[in-house]
Amino acid sequence: MSAREVPDSQDPSGGRVVPGIDRDCDTDQWSPDLYEGKHSFVWKLAASVVELLAPKPGERMLDVGCGTGQLTARIAESGADVVGIDNSPAMIEEARRHYPQIEFRLADAHDFEFDGRFDGVFSNAALHWITDPNQVVACISRALTPGGRFVCEFGGDGNIRYLVAAIESASHRLLDKPAPHPWYFPSIAAFASVLERHKLDVTQAALIDRPTPLEGSDGLRNWVRMFGQYWLAQIPPDQHEQFFEQVEEISRANLFKDSLWYADYRRIRVIARKTHA
Ligand SMILES: C[S@@+](CC[C@H](N)C(=O)[O-])C[C@H]1O[C@@H](n2cnc3c(N)ncnc32)[C@H](O)[C@@H]1O
Repeated sequence: MSAREVPDSQDPSGGRVVPGIDRDCDTDQWSPDLYEGKHSFVWKLAASVVELLAPKPGERMLDVGCGTGQLTARIAESGADVVGIDNSPAMIEEARRHYPQIEFRLADAHDFEFDGRFDGVFSNAALHWITDPNQVVACISRALTPGGRFVCEFGGDGNIRYLVAAIESASHRLLDKPAPHPWYFPSIAAFASVLERHKLDVTQAALIDRPTPLEGSDGLRNWVRMFGQYWLAQIPPDQHEQFFEQVEEISRANLFKDSLWYADYRRIRVIARKTHA
């Protein structure tokens, strides 16, 4: 199965990349080492989402925003034929290194197309990074065979409420201007209406509070290092330490318990079916 071909010097397998703000692979913000070393909870806590997908031998599956590929590999263990796509060259390279037997492509969730259709599309902890849900869901719907399923989990309405408030407040002080968070954290109603617009009927949807312990006394600042590049890129490096200290100070009352930092995650989990019409 091959993706719509767009010449891409960074990806010999021909996945496509759409240049643009926050999507350009030249500005890859992802560190596979920090992701796998300190944030493996992201895929470890999502094993049950793969169970909801329930892949079967011989089915064709697509993993959107596959990262370093651990859940793609979990899907492959079922005997399904799976392809992982991600727009980070570093994450795709690491996924290929771990699982050379699985097909991984460098491609953007906003603009991808494959020659054949998939029985299921899966996505974990990736869709809150997108900038245009309509474009992404249109691509997902187009990729699915009629009756095929879309199973996803990502940050929902109210996700990391305290953490975001602390980061926005600390960055405002240092930058002297507001820098509101860049993520897409929809309500069930908002996301369901996007899915329905693109011929995907929602069969299950939930918002799940999942306060998640972070690793070690540097857990909160490591989280910001990993996922807060939007702010770190704007704050001069010699002020990063001050930034981390302020985020910790503001967060302490709500996110530090029994000597552990927590991320106040709230996930949206959805199962939808492509209509036959
Ligand atoms: C937190 S990681 C999750 C990775 C994997 N799904 C997992 O559960 O371990 C988020 C991933 O989404 C990818 N991503 C973000 N925006 C994307 C986009 N527009 N197109 C494709 N991948 C994207 C990132 O590159 C990153 O690898």
